[in-house]
Amino acid sequence: MSFLDRIVAAVTPLESAEDRAAARHNARQAAEPGDWLSLVLDHHEQIEAAFEKARSTDDPAGRLAAQKELMIILTGHSNAEESVLYPAMADSGEKGSAGLAFEEQAMAKVQMALLEKLDPASQEWLDKLEHIRGAVTHHIYQEESHWLLELKRDAPAADQARLTARYAEEIARYEGAELV
Ligand SMILES: [Fe+2]
Repeated sequence: MSFLDRIVAAVTPLESAEDRAAARHNARQAAEPGDWLSLVLDHHEQIEAAFEKARSTDDPAGRLAAQKELMIILTGHSNAEESVLYPAMADSGEKGSAGLAFEEQAMAKVQMALLEKLDPASQEWLDKLEHIRGAVTHHIYQEESHWLLELKRDAPAADQARLTARYAEEIARYEGAELV
């Protein structure tokens, strides 16, 4: 399956809401207070809330404001994962998963750029937002059910603190950011 097809297939997540809730619960159990995994889970929840805010209003100005909020948290979080966590996955023997994770986030960035070009008052905008939400929801599930859990389990203890510091450093670049 090509990478585009995989993204399209991800529009309707294969996993159920119960599967996603169970994965989130297990990942929370594996995380320690303040570690990189707990930060990631917090950011996943913020991303889900930003999607919810964007899709739950018909007001174009409200949609635009929510889209900008979503753009900042999604870009900050994905850049931090791409700079710190996916390279660590590749380094711990998970090159295939790391490659897929990079690809999926690249496509989400492409789709978010396309969303920015659409009229927030249009049905097209809402359809695009839902397409991205489906793909991101599935991506988050893959991270919480396998990819990041495996990294938490497999990365040497000495690396875990460094991953936390570097992930926090990267995400901090976007905290308090505003999109024009
Ligand atoms: Fe993530």
